[in-house]
Amino acid sequence: MQSLKSVEIIDSGKAILLNLKDGGKIRYHSSWLRDNSLDPETRNPNNGQKIISLNNLPKNISIDSVYFDKKRKQIAVKFLPEKKEIFFSLNWLESYAYDNKKNKDNGCIDSDLKIWNQNTIKKIPTFNYSSITKNKNLFLKCLKSVYVYGFAKIKGGKIKRGALIELANLFGYIRETNYGKLFDVKSKINAINLAYTNLGLNLHTDNPYRDPVPTIQILYCLENSVSGGESIVADGFYAAKILKEKHSKYFDLLTKYNVSFEFKGDKNIFLKSNRPIIELSPMGKIIAIRFNERSIAPVTEVPFELMDDFYAAYRTFSDIIYDPKLSIKFKLNPGESFVIDNTRVLHARSSFKGKGNRWLQGCYVDKDAILSKISILSD
Ligand code: FE2
Repeated sequence: MQSLKSVEIIDSGKAILLNLKDGGKIRYHSSWLRDNSLDPETRNPNNGQKIISLNNLPKNISIDSVYFDKKRKQIAVKFLPEKKEIFFSLNWLESYAYDNKKNKDNGCIDSDLKIWNQNTIKKIPTFNYSSITKNKNLFLKCLKSVYVYGFAKIKGGKIKRGALIELANLFGYIRETNYGKLFDVKSKINAINLAYTNLGLNLHTDNPYRDPVPTIQILYCLENSVSGGESIVADGFYAAKILKEKHSKYFDLLTKYNVSFEFKGDKNIFLKSNRPIIELSPMGKIIAIRFNERSIAPVTEVPFELMDDFYAAYRTFSDIIYDPKLSIKFKLNPGESFVIDNTRVLHARSSFKGKGNRWLQGCYVDKDAILSKISILSD
C-alpha cells in the first residue's frame, strides 16, 4: 500500500478513513471490518475459513478507536459493543479495498480478460507439451492464456489414443458426460451428431443444452491427413462487446431473454437448458456466451411484440460472429491440441474430403481447477 499518513473514524464510528501520503483516501465500514476480522475466534488461522456466522456478531457494530500501531506496523481497530481490538495489515486492507472500485472498471468485460480478434491476437498462443510439463513458468503462462484469452494451442503431444487424458489431467479434472470421459470426433455413417460427419461445422460453443455448461474443452488431434478439416476459433466476448457498442438494444435483448437448448442423443438422452445467448453478471459483465444453431430450440420466451427484434438481434450477433476478420484458422496436426474456454470462445471446423482420415479426441474439464492452479503457481 501507499504509505499511510493517518487513519481516522468517520460517520460516527460506522467507518474508518485511511489518508494516504499520495493524497489517496480509502474507507472501510465497521460491519465489513468486523465480519472480516483476522483473529483466531473469527477465522481459522490454518485454512482462513470463517468460523463464525454473521448472526454471531452484534447488530450495531461501531468503531470505538483506531490507530496505527508502529510496533506491529498494523492498524488497530477497537469494535463496540464487543470492545474487541483487531489488527489489520495495510497490505491486507489494500488487497481487499472496495472503495471507488466502480469508477475504475465499468466495462462489460472483466478487467482480467483480454478480448481479441484476428488482428489483435497476432500470434496463436502455442505451448509445447513437454515444456509445460517440465517448466512451471511456461505452464503458468499456458494456464493464463486459457484464462485471459480463453484459448491456447498445445503441440508436441503423444500420438496415441487417450493421450488427451494425460493432457487434460494437467489442467484439472475431466468432466464425464453421456459421451464418456472423452469422445472421438471422426466420420461415422448415421452419426447421431453432426460433429461426427465430414461436413463443416459453423462457429459454436459446445453443449449449451447442459446445465451447467462444460467450461473448458480440449480437442486433441491423432490423425489429420484429409484435405480441409481446419480448426477455427473466435472470441465470443469480443463479438458480444461489438454488438453492445454498435447495437445496444440488440445486446439487451440477447441478455434479457433466456432461450432453450436441447439435445436428443438416443432414447435415453434428452438434455435441456434454458439460458440467455449472452449471459451477464448482475454487475453487467459478460460471463458466458451460448451460441449453437444446431441445438437452439424454438424460442418461446420472447413476447410476440419483440420477436422480430429478437430475431434481428440474433441475426446481427451471428453476422458479427461469422465475420472472418474475427476468427483465427489453423490446421491441427497429430499430437497437437487446443484448449478453449467453452463459455467464451467459439470453435468451428471446415469441411473435409478426399482420402485420408481425420481423428480428433475431445473432453471437458472444469475451469475452477485452472483458476486454482493459476493462484497456486502465481504465489
Ligand atoms: Fe464442438
